[in-house]
Amino acid sequence: MKCALCHGEDGKSDTPAGRQKGAPDLRTEEIQKLKDDELIRPIEKGHAGMAPIQSRLSNESKQLIVTYIRSLALKKAK
Ligand code: HEC
Repeated sequence: MKCALCHGEDGKSDTPAGRQKGAPDLRTEEIQKLKDDELIRPIEKGHAGMAPIQSRLSNESKQLIVTYIRSLALKKAK
């Protein structure tokens, strides 16, 4: 997945590109408390170091991404 380039396989953003751009750890409570549309907004509009990716994403893909980001937090809780 393209997201993993900066955010890592596990969402921790502990990657060379993620550290360089200051990408946040997506597993944290701060990110997980955001609403679905707030998680999608940076993907649609771009967000500081993060380029907008929407033109290649269907609504179904966006929903899958939200579900995936949520699943990262569950792993941390274990
Ligand atoms: C080029 C590196 C890069 C890529 C690729 C990337 N991101 Fe990000 N992402 C960032 C950075 C940097 C931030 C922090 C931006 C900020 O806080 O202003 C961020 C922030 C976020 C946030 C938090 C937004 C918020 O409101 O705090 C989410 C959620 C996110 N990214 C999801 C994704 C998803 C899903 C993908 C794949 C579709 C993705 N990112 C691809 C660099 C990237």
